[in-house]
Amino acid sequence: MIRTLLTGILLSTLCTNLLAKPLVIAHRGASGYLPEHTLPAVILAHGMNPDYIEQDLVLSKDGVLVVLHDIHLDTVTDVAERFAQRKRADGRFYAIDFTLEELKSLRVHERRNEQNQQVFALRYQGHKTNADFFRIATFEEQLILIQELNRSRGVNIGIYPEIKSPAFHRAAGQDISKIFMAQLEKHGLNKADAKVYVQCFDFAETRRLRQELGLKAPLIQLLAENSWQESGSDYDYLKSPPGLQEIAKVADGIGPWIPQLVNFDNKAPTTLFTQAKALGLQIHPYTLRADQLPQGMDWQSTMALLFDWLKVDGIFTDFPDKVVAYNATQ
Ligand code: G3P
Ligand code: CA
Repeated sequence: MIRTLLTGILLSTLCTNLLAKPLVIAHRGASGYLPEHTLPAVILAHGMNPDYIEQDLVLSKDGVLVVLHDIHLDTVTDVAERFAQRKRADGRFYAIDFTLEELKSLRVHERRNEQNQQVFALRYQGHKTNADFFRIATFEEQLILIQELNRSRGVNIGIYPEIKSPAFHRAAGQDISKIFMAQLEKHGLNKADAKVYVQCFDFAETRRLRQELGLKAPLIQLLAENSWQESGSDYDYLKSPPGLQEIAKVADGIGPWIPQLVNFDNKAPTTLFTQAKALGLQIHPYTLRADQLPQGMDWQSTMALLFDWLKVDGIFTDFPDKVVAYNATQ
């Protein structure tokens, strides 16, 4: 009797794992279609039914969490036209030098490069019509928006906030993680079963979130390359077997760059991939873009590689509708 019961549980777990579909994480909202992290991009992403919507978080001068990918403002807003005198000696405009009220007065546009050209040329071009409905959102605005859409639509789409540059914020006298934790608590989301993943590139901060600040929600350690100077973390170490073991003590998974998982020439998984799997770490790579696919690959072959062959547990994508549609065919 007990053996039959256990066999049933085992088979059911196996089936669940075999049928599990990768989590769809709307990267910066539906950023393939609308300016990243704006409320319209969040609303559009929500309607596409991903599992999670991502928020990159930085602080304003008055200590409010705002949803922005960079500590700088110049690549996605009109700050240089509006506040020309406020740039620092390095020529950049920093979100932390502006109050929330000032940040709210900026217009957000598609990401531009140093030549002021749109990075993804074919994406949203509404700036041509002088549209004025893309603004910087606070973390709390996005939280409330997603919770309300969940209620009105009868779904449960989660949030996937990233603490950006904690060391930079500390040097500026602000503790971004403490402010973040207060927001999670305020909205009842600091729970192990909350539909939340918290992410950070800085391993010291990942550890601090779990061990000092009392984070109970699932946690992902992001992985970069040392050459990117993303944080003070040593990514060569973090990608090694002892580094992954350290991560597994405090985090539920890793967020690697897609090329860190697979050799695109022979499609062989990397040691990082196999070691992370062996440790039971979830693997949520970034960033799948329909308009910037790995060299020599099309959408179908990329999906087959990531989902059918590697079987990653989740994916950050600028095009959540396309991944949701792919999942529906599986
Ligand atoms: O957080 C996952 C992915 O978004 C990491 O890259 O630079 O887009 O924040 P980034
Ligand atoms: Ca991110």
